[in-house]
Amino acid sequence: MEDLDQTFIQAPEHRADSNSIPNQPEEIPVIDLSRLNDPEDIQNVISEIGDACETWGFFQVINHGVPCDARKRVEETVKIFFDLPMEEKIKVKRDEVNPAGYHDGEHTKNVRDWKEVFDIYFKDPMVMPSSTDPEDEGLRVVYNKWPQFPSDYREACQEYAGHAEKLAFRLLELISLSLGLPKERFHDYFKEQMSFFRINRYPPCPRPDLALGVGHHKDADVISLLAQDDVGGLQISRRSDGVWFPIRPVPNALVINIGNCMEVWTNDKYWSAEHRVVVNSTRERYSIPFFLLPSHDVEVKPLEELLSPENPPRYKGYKYGKFYVSRNRSDFKKLEIQNIQIDDFKVVT
Ligand code: OGA
Ligand code: NI
Repeated sequence: MEDLDQTFIQAPEHRADSNSIPNQPEEIPVIDLSRLNDPEDIQNVISEIGDACETWGFFQVINHGVPCDARKRVEETVKIFFDLPMEEKIKVKRDEVNPAGYHDGEHTKNVRDWKEVFDIYFKDPMVMPSSTDPEDEGLRVVYNKWPQFPSDYREACQEYAGHAEKLAFRLLELISLSLGLPKERFHDYFKEQMSFFRINRYPPCPRPDLALGVGHHKDADVISLLAQDDVGGLQISRRSDGVWFPIRPVPNALVINIGNCMEVWTNDKYWSAEHRVVVNSTRERYSIPFFLLPSHDVEVKPLEELLSPENPPRYKGYKYGKFYVSRNRSDFKKLEIQNIQIDDFKVVT
């Protein structure tokens, strides 16, 4: 990644300085989850989460129960791996059949991202559709890939993922309550969850004005839980006017955001915000998102309980696994057309 190849160059309207107000003091909420220990405060926490999901689609949590030690361990271990020579890293490279492992050529919206990633499925093995063809019911079983070195890579990652998944379900329950639904309303959708977590490494970039670490996108999952280091670079687009705001790194906090599935389930009440990652020319940055995904056979559509004659469904249903594999196609190469997006399932009114 020494020279800035053409494939990295963002269109002018998508570059780091476009439409952003980096010094604006407005911030997404930081919610202290230890308040849930106080029975009198629980309802306040739930409504603050609901408000954040509606207004921003993003919030941060502190005192969230993911132990600092587990996070520190995974951060240190993955750094040892990413510092290895390329010939070592590509031994665990992902391919068109198995999306788990190391990868450095990801594209978002057909422009290459300035990053390296390592993807790990929460369930190992994980079941996903074998093709994008809606008529084809074939399934594929995929296994994680693990490097030989550092030797505790697998253990450190699995330990962290276990904690992140637990928190993801806790948050899902709080979100469900914030919608006036039973706590466990969503649980059945995760029997064969396709959740995965990802290590992102953003190397210093010679032209942060032209390239992005991740181009503007919405996450295709239910919710994401992101651990970011202290470098900063994540920006989100405000729901009310599309202006870009930075997400300030808060020590030991996790950044939570709503993905496409939750947006569809709530018929657009909760917002899946566009976000992007700005890079810089001096410091590398790491982030570790955990993406909570439903089972491949779940039909994602607006929840009946939230619909009414005044609030008719805004989306057609879609099979989650097919959506996921269709989106993944563009990770390997620049396609002639934009890959599948949630808006393709919008009901035209
Ligand atoms: C992502 C993402 C943000 C970050 O991986 O989908 O949005 O700060 N990452 O790395
Ligand atoms: Ni994202």
